[in-house]
Amino acid sequence: MRIRHSFLVSALAVTALIATPGAAMASPDHVTEPHEGQHAQHGDHSWATRPSLRTLSMRSGLKVGTAVNMDLYGSDAAYTRIVDQQFNTVTPENVMKWQLVEPTQGTYDWAAADRLVAGARANHQLVRGHTLVWHNQLPSWFSTDGTTTSFTPQQVRDLLHKHVVDEVSHFRGKIWQWDVVNEAFNDDGTPRQSVFYKAYEALGLNGLDYVADAFRWAHQADPHALLFYNDYNLEFTGAKSNAVYDFVKQLQAQHVPIDGVGFQGHLDTQYGFPDLQNNLQRFADLGLKVALTEVDVRTFVQPDPANPGTYTDTPLTPELQATQESYWKQTLQACLDVPQCISYTVWGVADSNSWIPGVFTGEGAALLFDDNLNPKPQYQDLRQVLWTTKAPRRA
Ligand code: G3I
Repeated sequence: MRIRHSFLVSALAVTALIATPGAAMASPDHVTEPHEGQHAQHGDHSWATRPSLRTLSMRSGLKVGTAVNMDLYGSDAAYTRIVDQQFNTVTPENVMKWQLVEPTQGTYDWAAADRLVAGARANHQLVRGHTLVWHNQLPSWFSTDGTTTSFTPQQVRDLLHKHVVDEVSHFRGKIWQWDVVNEAFNDDGTPRQSVFYKAYEALGLNGLDYVADAFRWAHQADPHALLFYNDYNLEFTGAKSNAVYDFVKQLQAQHVPIDGVGFQGHLDTQYGFPDLQNNLQRFADLGLKVALTEVDVRTFVQPDPANPGTYTDTPLTPELQATQESYWKQTLQACLDVPQCISYTVWGVADSNSWIPGVFTGEGAALLFDDNLNPKPQYQDLRQVLWTTKAPRRA
C-alpha cells in the first residue's frame, strides 16, 4: 500500500511539475513541511511518501544520484528502498574498481557490478561507471601501493589497455558516464607520480599520456558512453583546478574523446565554501559537460561517551549543522545554475555507511540520512532547492 501511495503522490507531483515548467510556484505543503521538523522519529516513514529527490529533479532534468554500497544494496531493505526511490542515477562505490573486478590476474568477477547495473535498469536509473584508471584500489597482483609494480613499463601499458577495453566492453551500452581517469593530479597542480605516470615516462612518453590512451580505448569500446575525468578539490580555484583546466584543454586540442569533468565535491565545514559555480562554469565553457560526482559535507562530531575514542554522527554544535546545510544547498544550487551540469551524485546514503569516519578521525555526519536511515535536514534542504530553483532545463 505504501508503495502505491508513494507512487501516486509522486506521479501527481510530476504532473504538476511538468504542467508548470520553470514557474515560480509557491511551495506546496508536502515540500516545505518536512523542513520544519528535524529528524524523523524512528519508524516514521511518512517522509518517503512525499516527492522524492528524483521526482523533484524532473523539473530541471538534472539527474540526482548516490554511490551504492553493494554489501547493503539488496540485503538491507531500507537502504535499498532509498537508493531505488530517491535517485535516478547510481554509482558503484567500489565494485567497478580494478581491484574488485579482476582480483586475480586474468579472472574477472563482474557479479556485484552486474547486480548494480541490473538494479539500475529495474529502477530506471542511469549508471555512472566508476572508475577505470586510478592509483588507488588496484589489484594486489598489479600494484600494492599505486606507485610501484613488478611489471615492465610496456607491460603496464598493455595491462592498462586490456583492463580498460575489457571493462568498458563488458558494460557496453549500459553506462551513461564513465569516470575514465580519477585523480591524476596533486593538490599543487603537479601530475601524480602514479604507477601509470611512471611507466609512460619510462617508455619515453609524456607521463600523462596514459590519460589520452585511456579515453581513446574507452571510446573505442563504447562510443556512446560519456567519458569523464574525475577529481577532488577542483571546486576551489587554485593550483590543482587550474592545472586540470589547462590539461583538459590540451586533451581537447589533441582530439581526445573527453566529454566531461567530474567535481567530486568532498567538502568540509572547516575549509569554507569554494567558488564552485565559477569553476563548474569555466570547465563547461570549454564545451564540456560537468557533474558533481561524490558530494558529501563532513564536520566535527560529538564523541561517543559510551565508547571513549569513538564518535557519534552528531555535529559538535548547531552552528556546524547549519554550515553543513548551507554547503549542501549551495552545491546543488551551483550545479543547477550551470546548464552543462548534468548530474549531482552524493557519496553514499547514510552516515553509518560513509567513508568519512574511517579516514578523518573526529569528523562525520557527512551524508543526507542518519544512522537509522532517517532523512536529515540536509535531505529536506536539497528537496527544497530542487523545488524552488528556476533552473535551465538539461537535455
Ligand atoms: O572489502 C574489504 C573487506 O573485505 C575487508 O574486510 C575490509 C577491511 O578494511 O576492507 C574492505 O575494503 C574496503 C572497501 O572500501 C570496501 O568497503 C577498503 O578497506 C576501503 O579502503 C575502501 O574504501 C573506499 C575508498 O574509496 C578507497 O580509497 C571507500 O569505500 C570509497 O567510498 C572511496 O571512494 C573514493 C572514490 O572512489 C574516489 N574519490 C574519493 C572517494 C573517497 O575516498
